[in-house]
Amino acid sequence: MDYKNILFTVDEGVATVTFNRPKALNAMNSETMSELADAVGVCNSDDAIKALILTGSGERAFVAGADIVEMQNLRPQQIVSFMELGHQTLRSIETMPKPVIAAVNGYALGGGTEISLACDIRFASEKAIFGQPEILLGIIPGWGGTQRLARIIGFGRAKEMILSGEQINAQRAYEIGLVNRVFAPEQLIPEAQKFARKLAGMPGFAIKMAKHSINFGYDLALDNACRLEVECCAQCFSTDDQKEGMKAFLEKRKPAFTGR
Ligand code: CAA
Repeated sequence: MDYKNILFTVDEGVATVTFNRPKALNAMNSETMSELADAVGVCNSDDAIKALILTGSGERAFVAGADIVEMQNLRPQQIVSFMELGHQTLRSIETMPKPVIAAVNGYALGGGTEISLACDIRFASEKAIFGQPEILLGIIPGWGGTQRLARIIGFGRAKEMILSGEQINAQRAYEIGLVNRVFAPEQLIPEAQKFARKLAGMPGFAIKMAKHSINFGYDLALDNACRLEVECCAQCFSTDDQKEGMKAFLEKRKPAFTGR
């Protein structure tokens, strides 16, 4: 697929998707969402890609939300299709067996915050701004904000953000657990790449099982979730990487993981 609205690069096993509609502050229209979905599919199927970074072009925006120009005249049934495309794409990011880092370089509003919420880890520039301003447009979040935001920062804080539409800066986002780490703007991408390369060097099957256990255990009763964890952990014991990891520990050397 030829991409018009995103840049897609791969370097040292780390893929980067850069949202690239700077004139619209990287707002997500359905074409951009389809391109993101395609890029995620490539990352899933290419064994040479071990991790993915999502970021925005320019210094102003990660993603300033779903594209209001495209949405404004849609009828409810058309909005269902628009939002479902977003949900399917974000779920494919959340559940992909490889780690995904959001490198939030500026405005992450509405759908922008929601895209970051589907990523495993959020790094932010000191200039990043988060918010769910949909209420100010007479709507509510439609790409998982009412669900993932509450799971990540808690019901009270999620309701505060969603009902007020207020924006918060990177420091506040860090304080409430919305972002994992905050960096000076020029350090954001190098730090995201460094961390992505670190995760790319981890035993891939264990990464996959960790994500699976966390993602799918969350909605289960605790006993069932713990059972899922046991099964995921046990599966790791059929890999070469488990044998190598434990052998290397006992031999007091660095493991040489092969991804098998
Ligand atoms: N959709 C379409 N265009 C957008 C956009 C969006 N979400 N956000 C910004 N733009 C466009 C602006 O219309 C403007 O275009 P023109 O130059 O053609 O006028 C351009 O980007 C620059 O924006 P501003 O002039 O507004 O820049 P600013 O510095 O004054 O403000 C901002 C920046 C605070 C991010 C402001 O643009 C803004 O509030 N954007 C909308 C944020 C928003 O409401 N997002 C939620 C969308 S709904 C949603 O996401 C639903 C969902 O859950 C999926």
